[in-house]
Amino acid sequence: MTTQRTVPDSSVAFLVTGSLGPNWRAEMTEIIGASALVGTTAEEALAHKEAVRYVLAWRTEPGLLAHFPNLKAIFSVGAGVDHLMRDPTLPDVPIIRYVEPDMTRRMGEWVILQVLTHHRKALTYLAHQRRAQWQVENQPAPHEIAVGVMGLGELGSHCCGLLNAIGFEVLGWSRTQKSIAGVTCYAGSGDFDAFLSNTNILVSLLPHTPQTEGLINRDLLAKLGRNRQHGAYVINAGRGKLQVETDLIAALEEGTLSGASLDVFEAEPLTAESPLWGMENVVITPHVAAISAPITLAQTVRAGICTFEAGGLPDHIVDRERGY
Ligand code: NDP
Ligand code: OXD
Repeated sequence: MTTQRTVPDSSVAFLVTGSLGPNWRAEMTEIIGASALVGTTAEEALAHKEAVRYVLAWRTEPGLLAHFPNLKAIFSVGAGVDHLMRDPTLPDVPIIRYVEPDMTRRMGEWVILQVLTHHRKALTYLAHQRRAQWQVENQPAPHEIAVGVMGLGELGSHCCGLLNAIGFEVLGWSRTQKSIAGVTCYAGSGDFDAFLSNTNILVSLLPHTPQTEGLINRDLLAKLGRNRQHGAYVINAGRGKLQVETDLIAALEEGTLSGASLDVFEAEPLTAESPLWGMENVVITPHVAAISAPITLAQTVRAGICTFEAGGLPDHIVDRERGY
């Protein structure tokens, strides 16, 4: 099959709520082609609604995408598509989620940074440092610590490989059974308690679906494995709706949970009133674990559009039944 190399004129709209970086519109327009783009706001796009065949979407208002009668596909700015699935009038066209080595590597960096922050007690040493206190903490070896990764897709499986290379015991949990070298794989609700009880540091890289909402709650936290040298930690870069923040806060206050790293929150931005901000054993980042870099994103979208125009289907089409 020959792949058409150009994006048709006036066929694309960027419908992105928020910013993808300081120059994202200019960077992406250059790659998609100025003549292909009808606009970057809802008003501009609606003024050309018959012409728009492709949208690049991030947190668009529910109902907006139904206004484009000739839509052929929706490209998601993110790997997660929960921002689209919440729209009851979402047009029945393919949704392509963003999957790129650039994003996968960024997530790997963030997850390793957080796991090592807790494992190597970086927050404790920083607190000692602030008090000019020379104090040695007990340090288990990585093979004594089990890191359990929830979600063994593009991102989770990559992180498992990195954790393995460091020498942690690595466990993984997914909906369907996987086989990953060096990883003890668990699947489904039947295996969940065994996975949790063998996990010291829990990493969440799950999508937000009706099945995963509120999963990181009081019950889950109580089931995490603990040993004398090391408490239990939670690291969530999946989605904020997976966690029940009041349960996390209570567990951190009581000491059931020794620490947490959170990139995602029930409501974003996290409000200034949240007690999480002030907790010394908590790391907060503002949903930046793995950003979609505009140039790479635009190249991926452009390649996807060219594949559609040549009569093909790009990779990473969302399964609407599963919701991810
Ligand atoms: P994938 O679709 O490749 O992987 C999702 C994984 O989750 C799969 O292993 C899947 O299992 C598993 N899963 C889904 N539902 C369940 C369930 N009910 N029970 C158990 N396992 C389940 O997604 P990615 O790895 O590309 O991305 C994961 C998520 O990370 C995104 O959806 C997004 O929310 C988040 N993300 C966050 C970013 C950030 O900056 N914070 C950046 C990028 C992504 P199975 O394979 O068996 O279907
Ligand atoms: C994503 C995200 O889903 O950045 O890609 O959250």
